[in-house]
Amino acid sequence: MNVPDRIERMLDEIQAVSPRSKWVLSALRAVPRHLFIPSIAQGFVGMEEREIIIDRDADPDTWWEVVYSDSVLVTQLDDGATEIQLGATGFTSSNSAPSTVADLLQWLDPEPGHRVLEVGTGTGWTAALLSHVVGETNVTSIEIDRANAEQAAKNLVAAGVQPHLLVGDGAYGFPGHAPFDRVHVTCGIHTVPYAWIAQSRPGAVIVAPYCPGFGLNHAVRLVVRPDGTAIGRFPGFASYMMMRSQRWAGVTAVDPEEARDFTTTVDPRTLAYAPAGADLAISALTRLHSHTYREPGFFRMWVMGDSDRWGAAAWEPKRDYYDAYQIGDRAVWQEAVDAYFRWVSWGEPGRDRFGMTVTPEGQHIWLDTPERVIG
Ligand SMILES: C[S@@+](CC[C@H](N)C(=O)[O-])C[C@H]1O[C@@H](n2cnc3c(N)ncnc32)[C@H](O)[C@@H]1O
Repeated sequence: MNVPDRIERMLDEIQAVSPRSKWVLSALRAVPRHLFIPSIAQGFVGMEEREIIIDRDADPDTWWEVVYSDSVLVTQLDDGATEIQLGATGFTSSNSAPSTVADLLQWLDPEPGHRVLEVGTGTGWTAALLSHVVGETNVTSIEIDRANAEQAAKNLVAAGVQPHLLVGDGAYGFPGHAPFDRVHVTCGIHTVPYAWIAQSRPGAVIVAPYCPGFGLNHAVRLVVRPDGTAIGRFPGFASYMMMRSQRWAGVTAVDPEEARDFTTTVDPRTLAYAPAGADLAISALTRLHSHTYREPGFFRMWVMGDSDRWGAAAWEPKRDYYDAYQIGDRAVWQEAVDAYFRWVSWGEPGRDRFGMTVTPEGQHIWLDTPERVIG
């Protein structure tokens, strides 16, 4: 199958999820994805998202098949310390799933001639897509990892596009190319760096994966106001690997003797499988983050405040009470449960009813109107 046919098949797949504008599709047609994928990468295939290592030399058919599918392609593990063939889970760079790329572009809505700041060059694919829309001289893309940045520069040359590429911490933006009309962020954040707003013109749009860490993640779309603040809502789902400076610290290993054991009547799956609106509410009310593990007949949910204050609750079938424990002096499980039931008492508002305001002093999450701040 030739490349244009493969691209059309990929577009059919992502259009089936939700229809995108013509300009998004024409950018995806103009910038072939395979130019940005290394010969070995980690993909996820099928309904069950089975992990697969694709190797262009060993099995070119599978490589081409997966590259032109809606799979994310992981290109770096543990900041480069682990070989991609090992297929471990410390994902630190990737070429994002085409449907997610299309969503973020759609929400960003750049116009020809717009000046765009991109944070997280990765493989360079989205920098090339943005260059196609606004013109390569208008795109400034920053990547923190030098090896990724060098490979992206090569990929972009091969694709015949040359946006401005910088190696550094994108949290600081790049005042030298400000003011920006659009800020396209392709690494997860829990806190919006104010520099992006300070360097944007009034009316500018910032789209970023907002990953507060409790349950599902969300795209946030902010509009910059003339007073130097930004406001916006969560148009949909976006899950990305975290910006380096905003990664969650691991938990401190403790002697099991130090754990305070208790039982809970609340099934941990009630919180873990709650809709996106509950996740936004719980994270805003508590600033807790979570992690889950599931296997047939067993489910555990960890709830973390910080490295020294965390806990977990586990579901097992045919139990009236579920075992739970807490490390440190914060009742993290109870806080998460209380926040969940506050969300229930508000009428279980969906993701679309929440919003965010960012000022130089910090950010707030609100429900329905900016005056009803919840966290
Ligand atoms: C999901 S990948 C980006 C995908 C990319 N847009 C593409 O088209 O391939 C996330 C990237 O963000 C980078 N990153 C993480 N923290 C960063 C930071 N503070 N500043 C700039 N880049 C960062 C990672 O090294 C990684 O390459």
